Amino acid sequence: MHSAERLKKIPPYLFMTLRNKINEARARGVDVISLAIGDPVEATPDSVVDALANAAREPVNHRYPTDEEWGMLAFREAVARWYGRRYQVTLDPKTEVVALIGSKEGCHHFALGVINTGDLALVTDPGYPGYKPSIWFVGAEPHPVPMKEEHGFLPVLSDIPSDVARRASAFYLNYPNNPTGAVATPEFLAELVAFAREYDIAVCYDNPYREVVFGVDRLSFLNAEGAKDVGVELNSLSKPYNMTGWRIGMACGNPDIVKAMATSKANTDSGVFNAVQYAGIEALDNCDAFIAHMLGIYGRRRDLVLDTLRALGWRFEPPAGTFYLWTPVPRGYSSAEFCDYVFEKAAVVLAPGAAYGVNGEGYVRFSLTVEDARLEEALRRMRDTLGKVTF
Ligand SMILES: Cc1ncc(COP(=O)(O)O)c(C=O)c1O
Repeated sequence: MHSAERLKKIPPYLFMTLRNKINEARARGVDVISLAIGDPVEATPDSVVDALANAAREPVNHRYPTDEEWGMLAFREAVARWYGRRYQVTLDPKTEVVALIGSKEGCHHFALGVINTGDLALVTDPGYPGYKPSIWFVGAEPHPVPMKEEHGFLPVLSDIPSDVARRASAFYLNYPNNPTGAVATPEFLAELVAFAREYDIAVCYDNPYREVVFGVDRLSFLNAEGAKDVGVELNSLSKPYNMTGWRIGMACGNPDIVKAMATSKANTDSGVFNAVQYAGIEALDNCDAFIAHMLGIYGRRRDLVLDTLRALGWRFEPPAGTFYLWTPVPRGYSSAEFCDYVFEKAAVVLAPGAAYGVNGEGYVRFSLTVEDARLEEALRRMRDTLGKVTF
């Protein structure tokens, strides 16, 4: 049997490759600690689990999701309440919100709903590996926009050649940023809206880490004046409420884009299980304190990693967002070589920067979503086996 040509463009999914490597080592009896993937280990809040269990017992919820492609109106209303409360953003739940099966799914339906075959779509480099496949799947071509440390890992929009900008129909980006941890500023968002308006580019502002910031204000793309004219913000309950496995999120903003995504979804997945949407309402309405609790945990772990790396000789500015630390690799190593070295010496898995794009070379990513004791053990091993490193 053959597979479609479009799949040939897609590199092996980073985390599947890492998972295979981890499983092989574990089968050999190695006690591997993975700091590679961003998948919270602490449980989803109890009240959210209870809401799911109660809703799952109701036969009416065993049927196709209500309002299929858009999500239940009650869920969309909860999204609007949440945006109002946490970001002072006003949304019309009927036309400006669609429920998603996670923001990764949203990236895909954004492409199906908005990008034409043969178009260019801008993506940041380094960038979340999910964007390019969504663009390739619709027969369009991703165009990398570099993010450099000297510009705070924000793209310099004026450096994008105008012929590229004119050909582009979409721009995928995310802040707080995976993988660099960088955060956007209100000034950058204003520039982004102006740039998108000038070149008629639809913005897919993917924002699953919006709540995970340290020492700076939370920021939504929709806080920028005119954002709703040019794009949508994808959002997810995965990271703030430890719900990665539940698969629920939302796209909010421009009504035409929201409608295009809903149309694409109606013909593909028929929406999110109603019981999961009821659980989502509970999370959005009643779990602000849980977010604060998790931020306390990540903040502590972040300090622990920073102190250890500094003691080993690392010098870098910690990012203000996400539960990742994006750090330079020591002199003499590529990012993949350094990850291999740490894996061999300490059985600790890090994510190599080059897997996020050519501009990710020279960096590795640490994830803080591992139990405290395992993180401490990983850092102890790194201290004992790596010794001082030079940059
Ligand atoms: C930038 C970014 N977008 C989207 C996702 C996927 O999130 P979800 O679980 O909502 O599909 C991730 C997950 O790591 C991510 O880092």
